[in-house]
Amino acid sequence: MSNPIKLSLILSAAFCLAVPAYAQVDPEEVFKENDCHKCHHATKAKKGPALAKIAARYKEKKLDEKEAIKHMTSGKKVKLEDGTEEEHKIIDTKDIAVQTAVAKWMLDR
Ligand code: HEC
Repeated sequence: MSNPIKLSLILSAAFCLAVPAYAQVDPEEVFKENDCHKCHHATKAKKGPALAKIAARYKEKKLDEKEAIKHMTSGKKVKLEDGTEEEHKIIDTKDIAVQTAVAKWMLDR
């Protein structure tokens, strides 16, 4: 790249394209990046209950995403499928919009 103006134009165009992609979070990506999927499969029990099971229980008890957010941010002790206990994983974002998106994604099934 010989022309610095051309280069900066290309860089700013790339930046403009990158911003909306960042603003629009994909809850499934956040879920994976946080290793939530290592314990929560869509339909099968792993170390933790399947997403389908969590969603069904929330529906039955009329709980909503606020309860799920509390759970993913408080690190309370949980019992894994193998009987051992550990503190539940805390999601790595403090952004309530992202937490809400993940909670809704989990419960929307
Ligand atoms: C080491 C395994 C493990 C990981 C990793 C894990 N979870 Fe869990 N999770 C569990 C277990 C076990 C339960 C069941 C807890 C219970 O019923 O007391 C649970 C329950 C839940 C529930 C239901 C809470 C409720 O009110 O019953 C939600 C929501 C949840 N996890 C979200 C997440 C999110 C989001 C992540 C990633 C940030 C995550 N989990 C990562 C093991 C895990």
